[in-house]
Amino acid sequence: MRGRKEARTAPCIHDVGELAASAAATTTAAATAAAATGATGAGAATGAGAAVAGAGAAVTEAGAKAAAGAFLSAGLYPLPGLFLRGKAQALTKLVLRKVLRPYLSLILSPVLHLILGQNRACAKHPEGQGKSKRQLPDQHEHLLCCRYRGTMNHWHTSTFWSTATALTPGPKIDKGQGDQSPEVPMPFRRKKISIIGAGQVGATCALMAASRDMGDVVLLDRAEGTAKGKALDILQAGAVQLFDGTVHGTIDYADTAGSDVVVVTAGSPRRPGLTRDDLLAINAGVVSSCCREIRNTSPEAVVIMVTNPLDAMTFIAHRELGFPRQRVLGMAGVLDSARFRTFVAEELGVSVRDVQALVLGGHGDSMVPMPRHCFVGGVPLTQLLTPERIQALVERARRGGDEIVGLLATGSAYYAPAASIVQMAEAILRNQRRILPCAALLEGEYGVEGLFVGVPCLLGGGGLERVCEFELDETERAAFERSVAKVRALVDDLSRLGL
Ligand code: LAC
Repeated sequence: MRGRKEARTAPCIHDVGELAASAAATTTAAATAAAATGATGAGAATGAGAAVAGAGAAVTEAGAKAAAGAFLSAGLYPLPGLFLRGKAQALTKLVLRKVLRPYLSLILSPVLHLILGQNRACAKHPEGQGKSKRQLPDQHEHLLCCRYRGTMNHWHTSTFWSTATALTPGPKIDKGQGDQSPEVPMPFRRKKISIIGAGQVGATCALMAASRDMGDVVLLDRAEGTAKGKALDILQAGAVQLFDGTVHGTIDYADTAGSDVVVVTAGSPRRPGLTRDDLLAINAGVVSSCCREIRNTSPEAVVIMVTNPLDAMTFIAHRELGFPRQRVLGMAGVLDSARFRTFVAEELGVSVRDVQALVLGGHGDSMVPMPRHCFVGGVPLTQLLTPERIQALVERARRGGDEIVGLLATGSAYYAPAASIVQMAEAILRNQRRILPCAALLEGEYGVEGLFVGVPCLLGGGGLERVCEFELDETERAAFERSVAKVRALVDDLSRLGL
């Protein structure tokens, strides 16, 4: 009986030693293999020893862990023999063999593989021999990641699936392809978001985008030190707050090439005494030149305009870019709605999370907050506050930007604008299909043709996926039309000034 068991175990010990000697990741498979043989405690211990010895110096620690896994798993098997007899012993052995062992293997394998997969990659790289991943210079990171992914594929099919299929009845899974670790790095492209203008809004937007792991961030400004300094600062914040995309500061549009989303914040900010409309002439030139560069370097990007006066600058951007309307949007409605929501939440003493609101029209004094479409925990605002109080909040929201300009004295708001940009960009980069109020080019919707006006938009991977239209009542329609008239006047000014 004993002889038969040893005879059955011996080739497995041999296998374990050989497999572990070949590579660390294979040692994981060896551990699982040893566990799966039904080895006795002594046999498993010997197998574990062989695994450690076979693994060699490069994977000593990993080999020991794999062997410990094998010992733990297979070593449990003889225990019932010591304490139980007859049917109870047979039943316990059955449970250990059929249930506990596969589960142990399932739990141990990923843990071991995480360690071993990396070491294996290092061991195969010319400069990685005998080093852990952390000891390697940065330029090998990419290669190692790719090799590690290959190793994971190997593990995924050979270890996980063999265990999973043992537990789950069903068709056999073909292990053929996944078993081949690729020798060349697999191409992988992260999302890229470029922000033009490294002022307060641009830099805050870069920080928020990076901290939400939205992709690689490029911060461009004509002041080289500002772009590079702020980008480096944000990158270092990532070491504390644990976000791991790249943040690159530059003056060169070539670095923004192939962006998925480009945010344009460049231009003169609003200052006290300077209305949004006063900025028209100053910023039209800035926006035109930015958009000519974007058209050449990121022809597939969705462009989010932020520069004021917003509706007119988005109009110019669309003209210069020549992109379809799906890929040119203005950020304003999210910000204006955020301000209205904030004031409503403050007034009622409730969480702003439970306040939904919509602000339409141009991004100026004529914007149209919509109390009829504001809900607090699902209840219409009109049932919670008097018309006078609501009107006071509407007025405050309309002057939300001016209030901050007045307080700061040296510039305009940037935290809430940046948060609003990032919400739009995220909806696009992650194809979230959010309905957010944005400035979009209307082609007959709401009775408007050829102007960028704030309306509810469905945002997804393609940018603007749909303008959402709904019925306005008489008062809302009148306010909306007044706001559209202001936007039209701004656009007319552009042609009058030859911009
Ligand atoms: C504001 C600027 C960003 O409203 O338009 O604060």
